[in-house]
Amino acid sequence: MSTGEPGADEVVLAARRVGKVFKTFERAPGVLGVLRNFVARKEIEVAALADIDLVIRRGETVGLIGANGAGKTTLVKILTGIVPASSGEARLLGRDSFQLTDEEKRRLALVMGQKSQLWWDLPPIDSFQLLREIYSIPEECFRERVAAFTRMLDVEDRLKIQLRQLSLGQRMKMEIIGAFLHDPEVVFLDEPTIGLDLVSRETIRGFLVKLAEERGVTFVLTSHDLEDIEETCRRIVVLDSGRVAFDGDLDGLSRRVSGQRAVEVHVDPGAQLDEARLAEVLRQHGGEVGSRAADAVTILVPAEGIRGLMPALFDALPVRDLSVERQPLEHLVREIYSSSERSGAALPRSDEVEST
Ligand SMILES: Nc1ncnc2c1ncn2[C@@H]1O[C@H](COP(=O)(O)OP(=O)(O)OP(=O)(O)O)[C@@H](O)[C@H]1O
Ligand SMILES: [Mg+2]
Repeated sequence: MSTGEPGADEVVLAARRVGKVFKTFERAPGVLGVLRNFVARKEIEVAALADIDLVIRRGETVGLIGANGAGKTTLVKILTGIVPASSGEARLLGRDSFQLTDEEKRRLALVMGQKSQLWWDLPPIDSFQLLREIYSIPEECFRERVAAFTRMLDVEDRLKIQLRQLSLGQRMKMEIIGAFLHDPEVVFLDEPTIGLDLVSRETIRGFLVKLAEERGVTFVLTSHDLEDIEETCRRIVVLDSGRVAFDGDLDGLSRRVSGQRAVEVHVDPGAQLDEARLAEVLRQHGGEVGSRAADAVTILVPAEGIRGLMPALFDALPVRDLSVERQPLEHLVREIYSSSERSGAALPRSDEVEST
């Protein structure tokens, strides 16, 4: 890290009761509508965020997820000072995000999957040179980083090709390199893997994990690809219609949404199962049979019962192989959405907001 700030528990980012209401104009459809808009435009308010409380400490890797329109990009924009909050307070590196000094802005980076930060008509190496000037990166650090990052992201041989001629994945990798060149402490990545193939996504995930490990970079990543989040982030924040529906680690999410684990037990082919014994083991540990196949049985058990259940299963069955499956993040998130809908905690969606 470029600065020698102490304290791994230092708060780098804090939102307190942050709310955002966009004021916009309703557009009437059709040609007549366009004319009508000149005369009597109807102003409407879109509540994008409400009461967001969030504290992120140095070195945390946070996955920000939620459906389209949940408010992820808006939150990133508020936290980085691109747009002001309508209410509450967002602080980055100890200062109001909307009042960051140039010096503080240099300690961050923002990658937006939908927007290019590099110069479209230049080859990436020229853009990087410009960034080197802008951020006063020492020549040697610059050379080392360009070499290391292009190697890690597998784009070493693309540095001298005009950005506009690169593939989407290569371009995105260059954007990421550009964002990390000045050794930022806090990095925001808003859908950096959108539209990319699996190999590119995996390469980018590996890069982020490595940078977080080796340089202690704090990052906030949004993605609709939940595998990106699972593989790179230790903490997960789920936004649902402008509110935080969950904030914690992946295990916490599994526990909160559904404490169940699925244990898949493969037994020796053709073996006779001692059904009575299996039933007794399941009764003791609160498990139940989820499904059966030839030579395999899937057992559903509360997470806290798993420790006791495993040895008991080995005792009771001719176990050949056994695997415990955590629920995939996607299932968990779906459950979160439907449970917050049920509790009615969510804000009205923008299409439900009444005009004022
Ligand atoms: N400039 C704006 N003017 C009016 N409404 C806006 C503006 N920007 C965002 N919104 C609204 O705010 C809400 C949140 O949008 P936001 O872009 O933050 O969602 P998101 O979670 O990033 O979605 P996605 O996954 O599609 O990127 C949406 O209802 C959107 O229509
Ligand atoms: Mg977005």
